[in-house]
Amino acid sequence: MSSASIQTVEVDLGDRTYPVLVGRGARHELAAVLPGNPRKVAVVTQPGIEVDVASGVEQQTFTIGQGEANKSLSSVEALCSAWAQWGMTRADVVVAVGGGMVTDVGGFAASVYHRGIPVVYVSTTLLGQIDAAVGGKTGVNLAEGKNLVGAFWQPSAVLCDTETLDTMPQREWQCGYGEMAKYEFLGVESLRSLALEDQVVACVQLKADVVAEDEREGGRRATLNYGHTLAHALEIAGSFDLRHGEAVAIGLVYAAEVAKRLGRIDEQRVAEHREAVAHYDLVGHLPANTNHSQLIDLFSKDKKAVDGVTFVLDGPNGVEPVRVEDRELLADALKAMVQP
Ligand code: GLY
Repeated sequence: MSSASIQTVEVDLGDRTYPVLVGRGARHELAAVLPGNPRKVAVVTQPGIEVDVASGVEQQTFTIGQGEANKSLSSVEALCSAWAQWGMTRADVVVAVGGGMVTDVGGFAASVYHRGIPVVYVSTTLLGQIDAAVGGKTGVNLAEGKNLVGAFWQPSAVLCDTETLDTMPQREWQCGYGEMAKYEFLGVESLRSLALEDQVVACVQLKADVVAEDEREGGRRATLNYGHTLAHALEIAGSFDLRHGEAVAIGLVYAAEVAKRLGRIDEQRVAEHREAVAHYDLVGHLPANTNHSQLIDLFSKDKKAVDGVTFVLDGPNGVEPVRVEDRELLADALKAMVQP
């Protein structure tokens, strides 16, 4: 199915197993991975991104506006209405082409339209390729918080076309690198020495293994949220110019500072976190004027916080969820995150 330069990782979920194709030009494999024999393909994307689906298939493009404000139920409603007007049925397919925002919104709309129609992702950002497009979590934000409404809805295939990264803005690279730094601590070895395509494959392979073992986040999958508790709090606090991956980088260092205070890791391991973040040219300290007390309050509002504040922390057994109740300790670790 694929050319020699395209590598395939399988997300093994029984009869919902799907391939993730990684490499330059992977988007041209779209016709080969379309599930079933669709009459219509709805391409969901943002202005400026083009794909050709397949000859003989009726194709129409539906765009979502740029920016987090469009990661909303209104975007989902608008898509579903437009699909209904176009006559999309359950036998048809959605192809979401873009970064994490497009795959999250397009995937969620696909999960609820006619109670679920197939979706394929063509992921065009580093963050999308190594994280957002793989794993089946879809969703949108509410005014009350990020990703509060969503569904687990696995795609039928994911195409990670590394050629699309050629024109990716620097800021978007930073965003992807924040998640890549995370994978270093989740057990992906020698990530830095790999070529870009192999870096994407290595991250996708780890995520695929975790999702195959724990699709609904009952256990191991929570480790993928490493660095995300502070990251989500910074994103919800809202007044900072931070992209998701940049916030995750800060969150990784903070998680290490918390783990050190709990005696789970030593200073050397904290330094490794700071070095990894710096290696990817990311900032590992808090933005100026953060309200520490507000951030700690937000930790317990994280939707992953089922009971009190559950952090994902490094330790002797690797990265694992840990309940932290000591507010003073959390505050002290935040102090270590202020720019010197
Ligand atoms: N969509 C991202 C994930 O499932 O983790």
